[in-house]
Amino acid sequence: MAIMATGLTATPVSAADNGMMALKERMQNQMKIMKPELKEKVQALSMDTKMSLMAIMAMHNRSSNQATLRQVMLEVLHDYQGMVMGIMTESAEMTADSARRLANHRIPRGGLLAYIGLENINDEKLASLDGFNSAVEGGAKRIAEAAEKGDFVTAGSILGEMATGCVNCHTMFRKFPGETDLLKD
Ligand code: HEC
Repeated sequence: MAIMATGLTATPVSAADNGMMALKERMQNQMKIMKPELKEKVQALSMDTKMSLMAIMAMHNRSSNQATLRQVMLEVLHDYQGMVMGIMTESAEMTADSARRLANHRIPRGGLLAYIGLENINDEKLASLDGFNSAVEGGAKRIAEAAEKGDFVTAGSILGEMATGCVNCHTMFRKFPGETDLLKD
């Protein structure tokens, strides 16, 4: 057990505290590379929003210092397709591996908030994230479990709930992909 010196006394640090400290460090590393205008918005979020962002982050232990959110999303789509392929070929392994990889997708460089526009960094908008996360990541984990029980009917039915989560998040936080301003309306 790690011992942390606090003044004159030594306080034992539990595994949960260690996890919390690692999480805070990841958040601080994200904050370090944010431009002041983004950092200000993030700092102004309520404690509830910050806690819910931390809880979502705790479910993803792969933070990238290279990947953009677009790259992460394409990997997510790839894993989604892997799940569909696994279900359609009744492969529990293919389905569960793709699903768990999707559920623990990379966190892009600087964190999600850097990619969704300053206008979306407020308590009201970010309150929806938890629901999207449950539909998508939660759905993927349930698909993995169903596939491992050989229940591909249930696994298949959850695909739709997941896709609804993807699309709802896009509707709220994404611009139309790949648009150009060099064409007439
Ligand atoms: C937390 C909200 C959120 C969830 C949930 C989400 N996405 Fe995304 N997605 C985004 C945002 C924001 C972008 C735009 C990223 C950018 O262009 O910087 C995006 C972009 C994409 C793109 C376009 C990539 C490109 O080349 O422009 C694809 C494909 C995609 N998402 C697939 C998915 C799939 C599949 C799921 C569900 C399994 C999903 N997304 C769930 C927020 C989300």
